[in-house]
Amino acid sequence: MKVLAINASYRGDKGHTRFLIDKLFAGATAAGAECQVVTLARLKINRCLACGRCHTAEHYLECVHEGKDDVAAVFRQMAEADIFVYATPVYVFGLSGLLKTFLERFYSRGDSGDFRVSKSGLMFHHVNRAICSKPFVTLVCCDSLEDEMPRNALSYFRTFSRFLDAPQVGVLVRNGGLLSGHGRDPEREKRVPKILDVYAAYQQAGGELATQGRIRRSTERRANQEIVPAPLFSILKRLKPFKRIMVERAREII
Ligand SMILES: Cc1cc2nc3c(=O)[nH]c(=O)nc-3n(C[C@H](O)[C@H](O)[C@H](O)COP(=O)(O)O)c2cc1C
Repeated sequence: MKVLAINASYRGDKGHTRFLIDKLFAGATAAGAECQVVTLARLKINRCLACGRCHTAEHYLECVHEGKDDVAAVFRQMAEADIFVYATPVYVFGLSGLLKTFLERFYSRGDSGDFRVSKSGLMFHHVNRAICSKPFVTLVCCDSLEDEMPRNALSYFRTFSRFLDAPQVGVLVRNGGLLSGHGRDPEREKRVPKILDVYAAYQQAGGELATQGRIRRSTERRANQEIVPAPLFSILKRLKPFKRIMVERAREII
């Protein structure tokens, strides 16, 4: 089983996203998977120019950037993998711009005039299935503790899955990054000890990916659990007066 993570953090290998990928991959590697990370921040990724050249008969499915940046090489790596992990921090309420810029380059690999119906019954066009339609895990991290914050990124990948016939085989959402020290601050981990169970769940999720090709719901729940050790936190955090107290507490902790 070959698992390929696309790390879309601008912090690259030093970021929280990479830290979480490594936890997942520790479990996957131990269970026999071959794991690789593509760090988009280290690559040259030109933006799609919407020039339409890739949809002309003369340059059919050939991007104007071919040979001038690193996207074709990443596509080749993707074609050889069995499962992808699309891993992105939330940047200004959505996917990182880096990931979106990369994914927009899928456009040059599909014939937008050749219409199809997806397994979900949605009308779309031809895509390169070796790149676009493989099973994938969504991994999203952010600093906010609000469920609302990662929602756009999660919704994006639900839609992605339905149009591209790409089974979403796991959803990992890690909020409270700043509070837990982004995996780099043992002092903060002592204040939010639940984070250690989260990391253990990531490793278990990696093992399940390697052996079963998907992450179990119970493992997802552990990996995505609230880390703030407040009773009834998920209910209380919807109340404004409680939020004010949380803001004060956060200032003390951070
Ligand atoms: C440009 C930028 C925008 C961000 N926007 C948000 C945001 O809207 N909501 C949020 O909760 N965190 C936001 N963050 C924080 C990151 O999502 C968070 O620190 C994440 O863990 C970073 O992962 P990384 O270290 O792999 O880049 C932002 C960070 C940056 C650099």
